[in-house]
Amino acid sequence: MGFNHLQHKEKVLITGGSGLLGSNLSIIFKEDFKVYFTFNNNFINLKDCEGVKVDLTNFEETKKLILKINPKIIVHCAALTNVDYCEENPNEAQAINSELTKNIAKISNEINSKLIYISTDAIFDGLKGNYLEEDKTSPINIYGETKLNGEKYVKEYCKNYLILRTNIYGWNALSKYSLAEWMLDKLEKNEGFCGFNDILFTPISVNNLGRIILESSKRDIKGLYNIAGPTKCSKFEFANLIAEVFNLNKKLIKSVSSDVINFKAKRSKNMCLNIEKAKKKFNTPILNLKECLDEFKSLRNFK
Ligand SMILES: NC(=O)c1ccc[n+]([C@@H]2O[C@H](COP(=O)([O-])OP(=O)(O)OC[C@H]3O[C@@H](n4cnc5c(N)ncnc54)[C@H](OP(=O)(O)O)[C@@H]3O)[C@@H](O)[C@H]2O)c1
Repeated sequence: MGFNHLQHKEKVLITGGSGLLGSNLSIIFKEDFKVYFTFNNNFINLKDCEGVKVDLTNFEETKKLILKINPKIIVHCAALTNVDYCEENPNEAQAINSELTKNIAKISNEINSKLIYISTDAIFDGLKGNYLEEDKTSPINIYGETKLNGEKYVKEYCKNYLILRTNIYGWNALSKYSLAEWMLDKLEKNEGFCGFNDILFTPISVNNLGRIILESSKRDIKGLYNIAGPTKCSKFEFANLIAEVFNLNKKLIKSVSSDVINFKAKRSKNMCLNIEKAKKKFNTPILNLKECLDEFKSLRNFK
C-alpha cells in the first residue's frame, strides 16, 4: 500500500457510486486514492469520499464534471443492470450502457486518464461456457448487447483502457438486493424459493473484484480480462453454499430448470468465465466461492 496516505493522493472517479460495485469500490479505493463518485436517483453518503449527483446521460454536465475533477483514473460502473427492464426499454439501455460510455471514453481520452470499464459475462450466448477473453461474443439479450457496445466504444475512443468482464455479488450500501442478499433474505425468513439448476456462472464478490481493480489501478494494467470466481456453479448450488455458510435450511431451496420461468429477456445458460489470463497477471488472490462467501458473511456487520 506504500506511503500514499502521507503523500498527495491521485484522484479516482467512480461512476455508479450508489450501486453494488461502485459503493464497495469507493470504500476499497479511499485508502490509496482521493475518491470522487457519482450517483443519480439514489442519494448516498460514503465516508471520506466525495459524492456528486449527475445524470451521466447529460453529456455536457458529465464533461464539465470530469474536466473539473480531472481524475487520473475513471472506473465506470454506472449501468442499467436490470436485464428484463433493459429488454423492455432498449433505447434507454442503449443510451445508458452504450452511448454514455462512449461519451466517457472520449472525455477520458481527452484528459489522458485511464478508463476502467466494468463489463459482463452476459456478452456471451452461454452455449459454450469457460469463455476466454478472445472468444466470440454473441449476446442474446439487450443488456448483453448494450454492454458489448460499451466495450466496443471504450476500445474505439480511449487509448488507455482496461475492460473487466465479471459477475458479482456482495452487500449493497442501499436497500437493493444482489442475488446473494436476496437468497439470504429468503433463507432467513424461512421462505422457500427456486434455484436454477441449469444456469451456470462463476460469481466473484465485489470485495475480491474491488481489490483486483485497485491493483490494476496501482500497476496501470491495461487490456481485457475476465475477473470472475474460480468456482463454477449453478444458481441452485450457489444458494446451497450460502445456506451452508450461514447455517440455514437448504431444504428451502428448490432445484428447478430456468425453462419453467417466462423471463422477458433470454438468459445465457452457461456464462462461466475462464480466469487463467487474470491469474497470471494479478498478484491479488482470487478466492474460491467458499472463501469468498465466508468473507461475505464476515463483512455483514460493516454494511
Ligand atoms: N450485478 C452484477 O451481477 C453484474 C454482473 C456483471 C457485470 N456487472 C456490471 O458491473 C457494473 C456495476 O454493477 P452494479 O450491480 O453495481 O450496478 P447497480 O447496483 O445496478 O448500480 C447501477 C449504478 O448506475 C447508476 N446509474 C444508472 N443510470 C445512470 C445515469 N443515467 N446517470 C448516472 N448514474 C446512473 C446508478 O445510480 P442511481 O441508482 O443513483 O440512479 C447506480 O449507481 C455495471 O457496469 C454492470 O453492468 C454487474
